[in-house]
Order: sequence, then structure tokens, then C-alpha cells
Amino acid sequence: MDGTDSTVSLKSSSVSMNGTDPIAFFDSGVGGLPYLRWAKEHLPNENYVYLLDRANFPYGTKTKEEVLGIVLDGISRLIVKVHPKIIVLACNTATVVALQKLRTLYPAIPFVGVVPAVKPAAERTHGKRIGVMATNRTLQDVYLDNLIKQFAPHCEVVRVAGPGIVEFVEQKLFQSTPEERYSILNEAIKVLKERKVDEVVLGCTHFLYLEEELRLGLGEEIELIDSRDGVGRQLIKVLTTKSSPNPEGKKGDLLFLTGTSPVEERYYTFARMFGLEVAGVL
Ligand code: DGL
Repeated sequence: MDGTDSTVSLKSSSVSMNGTDPIAFFDSGVGGLPYLRWAKEHLPNENYVYLLDRANFPYGTKTKEEVLGIVLDGISRLIVKVHPKIIVLACNTATVVALQKLRTLYPAIPFVGVVPAVKPAAERTHGKRIGVMATNRTLQDVYLDNLIKQFAPHCEVVRVAGPGIVEFVEQKLFQSTPEERYSILNEAIKVLKERKVDEVVLGCTHFLYLEEELRLGLGEEIELIDSRDGVGRQLIKVLTTKSSPNPEGKKGDLLFLTGTSPVEERYYTFARMFGLEVAGVL
């Protein structure tokens, strides 16, 4: 099927302004789930759907063109399947690459993006030295350059990719030992300390799962910052200004995955941790 045609038909069939429709979250893996948790705590009457793009994980090592194609495909399937009233792109890599395009393709659906919290970090830093931990794709993107130019022109910004951390969280978190969790962070911690940053931005949603280990490894002098509060507040604003709250009782929250069955056991564990029911493979 021609990509442009399918997009056009989706656009017209997907206009969904019904308050009972779910708020959807999207990520390459489990990284967006802590963002969903924030939303569930603050907007408990909404219905939520999470699409986990397991078939295309990880995004961070792919080219811009690859990530764009994958995200557009995943989001179009999500729209057809659940008719979300809002979509949270709970992935920094997907947001910097695809948010603008998605807003153009689906003007009737409000999108909330997740980008590295450079602005609050620049406001808080005393030494004017900030670390940004994110995937290679995010670190290289002009979107991040622009965030830094706009909000942190007076700061030295150290970009740290932390190779292997995303895969570790997605695939090994539950069977990992504390030593393994510290050791996967070692290189990043070393660089951030050597470069004497005093604020570290968690610019990849997967890194939130190792927040405690990072805090301990970096020490008290260095503060960690992520975008959960900012994204959550933006979601509340969008819900009340561009969409409408769920007028009925809550039905339940679902996790869909891309790829093929069977779904690995760990995803059932993640689903339970975040109060989701595994609803199937898209
Ligand atoms: N969780 C994603 C992010 O926030 C990316 C992980 C991946 O590389 O797939 O950037």
C-alpha cells in the first residue's frame, strides 16, 4: 500500500475527540512506563494504552530515517487500533526525530513529546556544567542542539550515551545483580564526574529504571533531573485545553506490543508493575 494514501485515510478515520477514548503512550520499550505511572497517579480516571515497539527496539542506534519510518508506522497502527484522544511520545529518541512530522500528519490528535530536561537543568546548575545522558540518536540530533542553544547557551553541556544501558534495562533488569546494575553505569558515571557537571539530565526514558544506582554512583554533589513532572503537567494542560477528561468510570489500562507471539515473560512482569493488562501483539 502506498504510504501517503494510507496516511490520508488514517487522518480522516482517526479524528477522535471522545473523552472516553484512551490516552496512549508510545516507546521503543519499557522506558515510557514511568511516565505512564505519573499520569495514572495524577489522572486516575483516564483509560490508558501503552504501545511498546518491541519489534523495532532499540531506536537509539538507528539512523534518523529508520527511526522516523518506524515511529510513523507504529503510531498509525496505534491510532487505528485504539483511537487515542492524546498520544504521549514517551521516548526522547522518537520525539526528537518524529514529533513534528506526526503533528503535521495528524493535526486532530494532540501529541505530547518527551525531550531532555535541559531547561530546568540550566536553571538549577550552579557551576554551569550539565551532563545529558541519552541515546546516540538523541545526542546527535539538531533538536538537542537547539534546546541547548535556546535554554543553556551559558552552560557547558557534556553528552553521554551510556552504551548498553538501554538494552540492559529492557532485557536484563529483573535478573540483574546490584553489581551488574552499577557496572553498566560505570563508564557514564566516570565521564560525568571527570567533566565536573553538577546536573545530569536523564534524556532517555529507559535510564529512569537505574535512577537510584546513578544517584549513588554520582554522589551528592551531582543532581539528577528528568522530564516526568514537566511532561505530566503538559499532559494535564493538553487534556483540559485540547481534549476532554473521561466523563465515565474507568475501564482499565492495556499494554500492546509490536512483534510476534509469544511475548517474553518479562513484559508480563513490567505490565503488572505498572497496572496494565497485556492485550496482545499489534
Ligand atoms: N527510551 C528511548 C528514549 O527515551 C530510547 C531507547 C531506545 O534506544 O530504543 O530515547
